Amino acid sequence: MTTTKRSWAEPYKIKMVEPLRVTTREERERALREAGWNTFLLRSEDVYIDLLTDSGTNAMSDRQWAGLMLGDEAYAGSANFYRLEAAVRKFYGYKYLVPTHQGRGAENILSQCLIKPGDYVPGNMYFTTTRAHQELAGATFVDVIIDEAHDPTSEHPFKGNVDLEKLDALVKRVGAQKVPYVSVAATVNMAGGQPISMKNLREVSEYCRAKGIKVILDATRAVENAWFVKRREKGYEHKSVAEILRETCSYTDGATMSGKKDLLVNIGGFLALNDEKTFEEARNLVVVYEGLHTYGGLAGRDMEAMARGIEEAVEEAHIRARIGQVEYVGQRLLEAGVPIVVPIGGHAVFLDATRFLPHLPQVAFPAQTLAGELYLESGIRAMERGIVSAGRNRETGDHNYPKLELVRLTFPRRVYTQAHCDVTVESVVELYERRRSIKGLRMVYEPKYLRFFQARFDRLEG
Ligand code: F0G
Repeated sequence: MTTTKRSWAEPYKIKMVEPLRVTTREERERALREAGWNTFLLRSEDVYIDLLTDSGTNAMSDRQWAGLMLGDEAYAGSANFYRLEAAVRKFYGYKYLVPTHQGRGAENILSQCLIKPGDYVPGNMYFTTTRAHQELAGATFVDVIIDEAHDPTSEHPFKGNVDLEKLDALVKRVGAQKVPYVSVAATVNMAGGQPISMKNLREVSEYCRAKGIKVILDATRAVENAWFVKRREKGYEHKSVAEILRETCSYTDGATMSGKKDLLVNIGGFLALNDEKTFEEARNLVVVYEGLHTYGGLAGRDMEAMARGIEEAVEEAHIRARIGQVEYVGQRLLEAGVPIVVPIGGHAVFLDATRFLPHLPQVAFPAQTLAGELYLESGIRAMERGIVSAGRNRETGDHNYPKLELVRLTFPRRVYTQAHCDVTVESVVELYERRRSIKGLRMVYEPKYLRFFQARFDRLEG
């Protein structure tokens, strides 16, 4: 085992570089105006340090790049599919694999296979695309995460846990036959990258098995979750991350996966299942939306890179440094008094916009504002995770008003150095010092689906 006393230092050296462009304040003013104050609409060329997302923005290893040359681009039965299938079986433990172009491709197929109109899908907080597919298939999403998850200051070590009383209350209210599965994410992105404990997952699994309800894991960042279990949960300190990952999956009936996160690739995902009947249906449906069941919208080379990423993701030196980097930024911001979600999450540091900009009401979009101001300050791109992301209530048409109004500084894996982290911290601290001068926004364009991606805003005057 590596000693935890010594600093983690990046467990790789740099072989190829991609130059970064530093812009002027005027250039950024123009770029942000053109983007309607939405960081999703900025051009990457106008961004200095890109902390929008850890999704598909990872640096692949030399081994993964070498794997690209082994792409077997056959329409059917590509050798890379079988290698991917073997890797998923070995590291995640599920029997059946349906590759998809990314996570939401798997969410679409799973939702269509398991949900009937009028069903309810409980989950440990929502994720935007996951909930959108559940709703499109006719289900109502019900949040059954513990209350602490909605409190950015609660130090609970497993804020991703399911509240079994909330789950049981729903099942009693609507009946188990209306609950096709419980959607369990590990870690929970919208709560701040917070983990679920093994104990809680085991209890959810036992409860669901007794009621004939499936448990579906959102395994997108389950390796990061495994690291937190190793660090925080009694009995796991001497287990390997790979063992913990296998055990996590063993309490579930299947998983949707965005390989663009944990698996260190730029594109790819899958749906993994244990039940043959659901698998047959999913394998049939994937040909309608993604491609044949042995490529699911991916090139052979992409499947090879993902298969290799699966192995690299569970290497302890990698995961320790990955989460260590996020922790480093979070810790420095805490020391400077900047309000962030605690405990510090796995993939990102979440600025608490409610406490950062207490003079702005939620309808003035504090997190959207803060993400825009950070870009103006320094060219750093972050993402809103608050009222804009939460969308509208389907019945009343009003905004959903989430308790968490956050800006996510998300760290791509193996991409930025510690000096980039320092610049990020300095920029946020400077912004914090002039926070009282910051004005809010109004929304001037709102698309129908997943509005945060394309909505446009104007600065409020006065
Ligand atoms: N589940 C979780 C927990 C996610 O974070 C994401 C994507 C998905 C599913 C969907 O996967 O993008 O491959 O279709 N999250 C990205 C993010 C977009 O920035 O957090 P996808």
